[in-house]
Amino acid sequence: MKAFVLTSFDHAPEFADVPEPEPGPGEVRVRVHATSVNPVDHMIRSGFFRAVQEYRFPAVFGRDFAGVVQTVGDGVTRLREGDEVYGFVKRDYIGDGTFADYVVVPGGFFVAAKPSRLSLQQAGTLAQAGITALECVEAVPSGPGQVVVVNGATGGLGTFAVQIAKARGADVVATAPSCSGRWGRTISSTRRKVTWSSSCGRPFPRASTGSSTSSSMSTRPSWGKARTTLAASSPACATGSFAGEAEPRP
Ligand SMILES: NC(=O)c1ccc[n+]([C@@H]2O[C@H](COP(=O)([O-])OP(=O)(O)OC[C@H]3O[C@@H](n4cnc5c(N)ncnc54)[C@H](OP(=O)(O)O)[C@@H]3O)[C@@H](O)[C@H]2O)c1
Repeated sequence: MKAFVLTSFDHAPEFADVPEPEPGPGEVRVRVHATSVNPVDHMIRSGFFRAVQEYRFPAVFGRDFAGVVQTVGDGVTRLREGDEVYGFVKRDYIGDGTFADYVVVPGGFFVAAKPSRLSLQQAGTLAQAGITALECVEAVPSGPGQVVVVNGATGGLGTFAVQIAKARGADVVATAPSCSGRWGRTISSTRRKVTWSSSCGRPFPRASTGSSTSSSMSTRPSWGKARTTLAASSPACATGSFAGEAEPRP
């Protein structure tokens, strides 16, 4: 099958012919119709994970997928051949990703029926950034009357986080260099209030939020610090935006 692979850290990623993966017990093989590129793909290419994870060269890139179940391994009951599915693969090694004609997905990974109102292309962008955003929003107080800060809110992760936080009833403070643009207005155009900060064009308090991500929620341990930092760097954030939850949470 065709796949987009990394053969070594000294060579650019390339398309190559690699063996089709065979599903074992509890696994399904999916014919990949759509996938998406995330920052992690650049990190994989740069060797970022080499100290902590094995790279199995040629390492097939990619984590998100949407496609059709082609083969079902022994013991799989919740999926059948022909099902349209989406999900993502995150293994304990680098390789066997989704930038390929086929991917084998263990039953314990996130793989679910594709929502019928979404195309395969749309579903192929959902899982990794969407689940990460969901986990981030759920990690902070994000109900009615509370304020959630989303840094890098116009990005893949931030776009989901803004909408999830709004759907849970929170008010959202969203920051991004391009926050005054059309995209920013699009993702905030619902009933819940979204305050775009005036950090546009300013140095971003990326490292100060206690997270390794630039598009991240203020997580519990860093909430107080993020509040202080953002308030200092962005007057708009300080103006009433943090009235809901001011103290670090256990
Ligand atoms: N995507 C995922 O599934 C995922 C999962 C886990 C962790 N992460 C991490 O989360 C972070 C964001 O991922 P993403 O997929 O959302 O990336 P992305 O789509 O590239 O979005 C990056 C966001 O950060 C903003 N930004 C970029 N450079 C900036 C700067 N110098 N100052 C201030 N803001 C800046 C961008 O604003 P503009 O729109 O104005 O450029 C955008 O809002 C990355 O560190 C990534 O490794 C991502």
